[in-house]
Amino acid sequence: MISGQTKESPLFYEEKGNGNNIVLFFHGFPFDHTMWLEAGNCLKSSCRLVFPDMRGFGNTKLPVSQVTTMQRFAEDAKDLVYHIDDQYGNINASKIVVCGLSMGGYVAMHFAKCFGDHFGDRLAGLILCDTKSQADNEAAAQNRRQRAEALPETGLEVLADAMIPNLFAPQTGENIRRNVRQMMLRQSLAGVAAADRGMAERPDMTAWLADFSFPTLVICGEQDAISPVGEMKCMSEQLPDSRFVVIPNAGHLSPIESPSKFSAAVGKFLDEIL
Ligand code: MLT
Repeated sequence: MISGQTKESPLFYEEKGNGNNIVLFFHGFPFDHTMWLEAGNCLKSSCRLVFPDMRGFGNTKLPVSQVTTMQRFAEDAKDLVYHIDDQYGNINASKIVVCGLSMGGYVAMHFAKCFGDHFGDRLAGLILCDTKSQADNEAAAQNRRQRAEALPETGLEVLADAMIPNLFAPQTGENIRRNVRQMMLRQSLAGVAAADRGMAERPDMTAWLADFSFPTLVICGEQDAISPVGEMKCMSEQLPDSRFVVIPNAGHLSPIESPSKFSAAVGKFLDEIL
């Protein structure tokens, strides 16, 4: 793995592999790029795999801002593509695949919607993991805003304690649970609050799914309590060129709970489309 930083945001990222084609991995909430590393290590692919810390998470600072919208995250990702292009003298023929888990999936859908035309044929595929296309209803959005407001007082422990019971399949081991909790606790309060407010105002992307004409892979942990299999299958059916994969013995965090099965599904998809 090598790490880098873009000039614009500046976005910290790690990358692996050295092909021309780029796969960007957007992490979930409130995590950072390290959530992908084990799956990334299992992934056999001839692409450049790029794992950013999105603004306000991990090693990427939050420029003064109360709200980080999904569009803002997607714009940062577009800048990251330009940065990688500059870095390696990529020609415009190189392909881009975006992969996102949960909040990262919201970002991936925004990337496809906002920059699909801009990148044209370069955008070769979309991987949506344990995520959903719907916006929050008003109660859920209000809950996020209150949670973000209270965060400086309550701290990240309260958020982690509330989220953890829904994140894993029952059989997921203590080590994984402990590591994920630690990852959540090392995020910045301001970054987490800004992303929570941004998710509260994210638009419903369902109507856009039919426009995503490039190949899509939808991945869901068999026991995902947050984005259940039935809902993700329904989302997959609305995408014109989609494959649907269920990862056994995994919950909401399929790349962490079952990295080898997760990367096998991603590797097969990349082989097929690139
Ligand atoms: C995530 O894992 O990114 C969160 O569950 C997303 C959300 O809160 O909607």
